[in-house]
Amino acid sequence: MQEDLDRVLFDEATILRRLDELARAITAEYEGRELTVIAVLNGSLIFMADLLRRIPLPLKLDCLSVASYHGGAISSGEVWFKQLTLPDVAARHVLILDDILDSGVTLASICDKLRAQRPSSVKICVLLRKLKARLRPIEADHVGFDIGDEFVVGYGLDYLERYRNLPCIGVLRQEKIQLPNKPGTTPEK
Ligand code: IMP
Ligand code: MG
Repeated sequence: MQEDLDRVLFDEATILRRLDELARAITAEYEGRELTVIAVLNGSLIFMADLLRRIPLPLKLDCLSVASYHGGAISSGEVWFKQLTLPDVAARHVLILDDILDSGVTLASICDKLRAQRPSSVKICVLLRKLKARLRPIEADHVGFDIGDEFVVGYGLDYLERYRNLPCIGVLRQEKIQLPNKPGTTPEK
């Protein structure tokens, strides 16, 4: 899998060091409050597991399963909520965990849905934030790393459901990405 990367952006040790810092900041912020973490699956799974084990606070964990890419490398601008009921967050302090802030459509839709239940607060923590214009205006409160507008995989992030189990985060080689509207341009195996 690693040979499909153009270059590694963050190796495992660098990611885990940054998670120590993020966890310290989150722990200090929510000390003494009723924290509910909402992890956005599948991309945040590995990030969530490593981050939450560094936060020594009592907390509730719920997961939301959404899809916005529908299999490609460019956001479709639509968000599908795969579950019928949303976690109960009324009067809770909510921290949403996601893998990456890209167009902002996913996180903005999730915030809208959760805010309708009148939580005490809603904040966002992302592992990665792409430095680019967003389709929906949304800010993350905690950010692991800022990156350029490139397609990355690994440490939970996928391309067509592959590469999630890479321990590092890297830029996928361009020829591995299937271009839309170009029949025959399938990624190499
Ligand atoms: P949005 O465009 O901010 O709504 O991001 C939606 C979702 O697209 C993210 O939660 C990721 O799962 C996925 N995504 C966005 N950029 C990348 C990327 O560079 N690599 C892999 N997945 C991505
Ligand atoms: Mg994805």
